[in-house]
Amino acid sequence: MADDFRILVVDDEPTQRELVCGFLRKQGLEATPAESGEQGLEIFRQQPFDLVLTDQKMPKLSGLDLLKSVRAINPETSVIVMTAYGKIESAVAAIKEGATDYLTKPLNLDELLHKIEQVRERHRLYFENRELREALQSRHRIEGVLGESGQMLEVTSLVRRVAPSEATVLIRGESGTGKELIAKAIHYASPRAGAPLIRVNCAALPETLLESELFGHEKGAFTGAAARRKGRFELADRGSLFLDEIGDLPLPLQAKLLRVLQEREFERVGSSLPIRVDVRILAATHRDLEGLLKTGQFREDLYYRLNVVTILLPPLRERRQDLPLLMDHFLKLFAEKNHKTIRGFTQDARQALLRYDYPGNVRELENIIERAVVLTRDEVIGREDLPLSIPEAEEEKGEGITLTAATEGTERRMIREALARSGGVQTRAAESLGISERALRYKLKKYGLRGEDSGS
Ligand SMILES: Nc1ncnc2c1ncn2[C@@H]1O[C@H](COP(=O)(O)OP(=O)(O)OP(=O)(O)O)[C@@H](O)[C@H]1O
Ligand SMILES: [Mg+2]
Repeated sequence: MADDFRILVVDDEPTQRELVCGFLRKQGLEATPAESGEQGLEIFRQQPFDLVLTDQKMPKLSGLDLLKSVRAINPETSVIVMTAYGKIESAVAAIKEGATDYLTKPLNLDELLHKIEQVRERHRLYFENRELREALQSRHRIEGVLGESGQMLEVTSLVRRVAPSEATVLIRGESGTGKELIAKAIHYASPRAGAPLIRVNCAALPETLLESELFGHEKGAFTGAAARRKGRFELADRGSLFLDEIGDLPLPLQAKLLRVLQEREFERVGSSLPIRVDVRILAATHRDLEGLLKTGQFREDLYYRLNVVTILLPPLRERRQDLPLLMDHFLKLFAEKNHKTIRGFTQDARQALLRYDYPGNVRELENIIERAVVLTRDEVIGREDLPLSIPEAEEEKGEGITLTAATEGTERRMIREALARSGGVQTRAAESLGISERALRYKLKKYGLRGEDSGS
């Protein structure tokens, strides 16, 4: 991460800007130029940077204004402000606003390089520290279950406490909140981990089939029962049985399940021979069991049998602190799976994702990111790679930037569309946009878009 250190250079004087960018590139650093505070801010919204090096005195959006916006958008980015010699008060103001450092003009390039090295070192330490913290946390983490919100820490703590026991666990939560994941976590953290975890979806089959699925049947027990078959209870012997969608279990089967829970004994369909099993029960549902009790659709005695320990998974919108972790996790996962290099999200995309409500919870987030990874043509996921159903992040209105932002947003989108239509051939894309190829190349670079070579 820290190796690919990206610097945004904002200066309205062309010679100064080119001098600095040229110098940085010669040092093997990645420098992106911007010719005004407005343009700098727009580019910053679209791409990730580690350092912003900005002139203080610029016509509309000053270095100080830019500094404030950058700090608001991404506090992890460092900012160095360049001020005119003798203007010590503007340097002080910059530091007060959170600038990492300042430089006076005319620039001393050695000093510039030295300060950049200091910033890099600080970033390196910061990321190392973060990795260390994560490693430390992971010792308390349950395999595969991510979350650093208070609610999820409570969930994982409960998982750790119930796993070693024989207690029946009822896992509840909206669709896509991770109920099955938690059932797996409990089983694999339990002494039964060496034996199978068997899942039955109680909502998927009609009553008679479900009964034979659970308890097995003898040959000829019913039409179609050509051979004797073991049920899920037998298959889960010494392991755990995960009864998913338990709220949808038909009433007659609820009675039979209750008996197994009480006596650890049952018969195959078409047999009167009792079979004993050693099974731990985990159950899950997204349904309102208390409501089903009232209407008589769920047995009260079974409810109490199952409800020994309840784990409630809160909806994702009620634990937004977990979003950044999950977003980065899924991004990495699907980038690897699709053999793509993806560095992150644009600020717009990140903000839209952080604000969305996720009626489908973690599964929905997972799908959104998988889709974006597959669709994106860049190394960053942009707003346009997300489904339209996700509302736009509201613009924080900075002075004098709205028109530029709007124009540049449209420009970026039109370029991407033209490139998509031309199959990546730049000559044709430029033609259809009515601009020169050279202008197109400039804009591709400006917006961090990747155009395939035209071959010309
Ligand atoms: N805390 C988490 N950390 C990492 N991945 C998670 C987390 N919670 C859920 N997921 C992932 O989200 C997806 C949905 O989770 P899961 O299938 O367990 O949800 P569910 O509650 O059983 O949903 P449903 O009610 O629709 O069956 C899975 O791919 C799972 O791995
Ligand atoms: Mg599930």
